[in-house]
Amino acid sequence: MCGIVGYIGEKKCVPILIEGLKRLEYRGYDSAGIGTIEDGECKVYKKTGKVSQLEDKINGREIKTPLGIGHTRWATHGAPTETNAHPHFNGKNSILVIHNGIIENYATLRKALISSGFNFISETDTEVLVHLIDSFKKKGFSLFESVRYALNEVEGTYGIAVISSDEPDKIIVAKKGSPLVIGIGDEENFIASDVSALISYTSQIVYLEDGEIAEVKKDSFCAKTISAVDIEKEIHEVTMSLDEISKGGYPHFMLKEIMEQPESIRNSMRGRLLHKEGTAKLGGLVGFEDRIADSKRIIITACGTSWHAGLVGEYMIEQFTGIPCEVEYASEFRYRNPIIGKDDTILFISQSGETADTLAALKEAKRRGALCLGVVNVVGSSIARESEAGVYIHAGPEIGVASTKAFTSQLIVFALITLLIARKKQLSHVDGKTIIKEIESLPEKIEKILKLNDHIEKIAEEFKDSLNFLYLGRGYNFPVALEGALKLKEISYIHAEGYPAAEMKHGPIALIDKNMPCVFLAPSDSVYEKIISNIEEVKARKGRIIAITSENDDKIDKMVDYTIKIPDTIRMLMPVLSVIPLQLLAYHIAVKKGLNVDQPRNLAKSVTVE
Ligand code: M6R
Repeated sequence: MCGIVGYIGEKKCVPILIEGLKRLEYRGYDSAGIGTIEDGECKVYKKTGKVSQLEDKINGREIKTPLGIGHTRWATHGAPTETNAHPHFNGKNSILVIHNGIIENYATLRKALISSGFNFISETDTEVLVHLIDSFKKKGFSLFESVRYALNEVEGTYGIAVISSDEPDKIIVAKKGSPLVIGIGDEENFIASDVSALISYTSQIVYLEDGEIAEVKKDSFCAKTISAVDIEKEIHEVTMSLDEISKGGYPHFMLKEIMEQPESIRNSMRGRLLHKEGTAKLGGLVGFEDRIADSKRIIITACGTSWHAGLVGEYMIEQFTGIPCEVEYASEFRYRNPIIGKDDTILFISQSGETADTLAALKEAKRRGALCLGVVNVVGSSIARESEAGVYIHAGPEIGVASTKAFTSQLIVFALITLLIARKKQLSHVDGKTIIKEIESLPEKIEKILKLNDHIEKIAEEFKDSLNFLYLGRGYNFPVALEGALKLKEISYIHAEGYPAAEMKHGPIALIDKNMPCVFLAPSDSVYEKIISNIEEVKARKGRIIAITSENDDKIDKMVDYTIKIPDTIRMLMPVLSVIPLQLLAYHIAVKKGLNVDQPRNLAKSVTVE
């Protein structure tokens, strides 16, 4: 995710900006840039790749200026190039803007600005902000007022910092849905998207709230709402250590990423739901919708967690579109002789976009003439570039090796793709709207589940020394059982298997005794009674049971050792909720065993080898 840092004071700003940007590197990014005002003129330095490469580019230049802003960009709109990197600037190069977030109405604004004579050079949504601010400056407004008026026209999310050579004694910052803080120093002030960028300079922090804008000078700051109401901001003393805050205060990236899921799935659905029409809008599939809907077959290809998301996708697609769907391991698909052709649509699912098996399967499928679509997190990655079209999941950088938030975002994107195709086929307007309503209710429901963290930690304590685990689920929850087992084995090194619950009697039941914990996914759905029978079978053999049940269920409580109660939703979306307790359970067991949760042995975040 993008990062923001800025300085105004008496020191040279560049070393401070570079250090701040380095502190933000953990968030993941693909380009970096710095903007300053030197001898009355705006100057911009940008580089794709690492902050150290930007540092090398700037090194050797005598930049004494005490005012500057810096940015790390994680591409969303437009590839990771120097042109698309921030800061963005206006035609006269007198205004510089850095921005985190997504301007949802950028296409409309861009069109209007172009017809008023503004010239765009990047593919980003951010560039509209610069020209919009410029348009108000040209009308005679101050920088502060110009930014404020501009933001009143914007839909979406932003954390922004703006400087101008016309008013070189200030930085204007504003926030909506993307964090922005002001760091208070002595004859110097700082701004950043994350306290970690500032903590080595100051512990005095002002947190901007959504809809607030501030003018930051070297010895003062003042804030208003974007509708121009004055506000008093409190200065907070931050006591966290550098190490803690680089993980946003969490002890591990994995926990941070689990906790981020209400927000990461919001980002996956943002701007993509058409309420009135009861369908989804996916910019990356425009022009391909009919071809997908007319496919004779849809194939989903992926590895690991992404493959599990694909299994859930298969259930959704077949239930709602009537198009036959298959899911294949990319590593198998690439080496057999798959019968595929022009009438097939193939979805390649990958968080990293770099998984070698998935990439090779994509190249093979393309050669055979199928429509190849990517569902990828990392913008500009190989799978994203190689696919004919696709959808970014927008989960933000996932650093922990065990995939968590990418999985739930992949599920959201599958729901959106399903909605889009199904509405072109057999799904009614009313049913489309019901699905949208349920999708939108998920972040709040996840927040509720995350509050069970302490309860789940206690369960983890009880089971941390187990040598084996069975995860059992049916229907949409069968892939979740597989994912729960994968999470546990990869970070805790406990042997775990996922099974369709009804398959238990065909073999795994032989393993059950008092030492075998079984995790049942048992929400109140159409197979509830069947799952109850499976629970009875395990109980009869003295197996220990943890059950994930619906909030209002009081039947299973009496039958099992532990219940974890989660809110209900429609069947197709239940995996988005039911996987969360399993992520937390695996996390706590691994922590209690003293293992390296973020970088488990033998595993890499991006598997670029066969
Ligand atoms: O980046 P990808 O989604 O293509 O990665 C696929 C798998 O390597 C990945 O999901 C792996 O299984 C994770 N470590 C699971 O947590």
